[in-house]
Amino acid sequence: MVLNFFILSSFAFILFSCGPQDEKTSFTEDAVEAKVIPRGEELFLKNCASCHGNDGKLGNSGAKDLSSSRLPDEEIRTILEEGKNAMPAMSILMEQSSDMDSVIAYVKKFRK
Ligand code: HEC
Repeated sequence: MVLNFFILSSFAFILFSCGPQDEKTSFTEDAVEAKVIPRGEELFLKNCASCHGNDGKLGNSGAKDLSSSRLPDEEIRTILEEGKNAMPAMSILMEQSSDMDSVIAYVKKFRK
């Protein structure tokens, strides 16, 4: 019985001592980024690159250079939802809110 407890508690110790807390946090953030960015890229290449270019700088039909854009997330969201001048509303991004978030995260990667 005592031996059993000893074995169990050393097992628990091994389980809970796998590195400091902050390592776990950055693992979670990396995991989110690993999913969000490729999805954002996929959506961008399909729906945005014809005007903005693969690197965000093309400027077709008067599209703004996304590498020099400094709009906050909420304003990017409004432009994507409502469109602006020659840019149409991107209704495809409104089917899933995670898609909207992924594209916003991805376009900010173009910033220098
Ligand atoms: C038909 C061409 C076209 C497509 C497709 C397009 N855009 Fe645009 N985009 C524009 C134009 C034109 C503007 C400039 C609007 C204005 O301010 O007059 C613009 C502006 C923007 C801005 C604002 C930049 C700034 O700093 O003012 C963002 C962000 C943006 N587009 C992101 C996207 C994303 C993300 C997609 C794909 C989901 C996309 N665009 C698809 C033409 C396009």
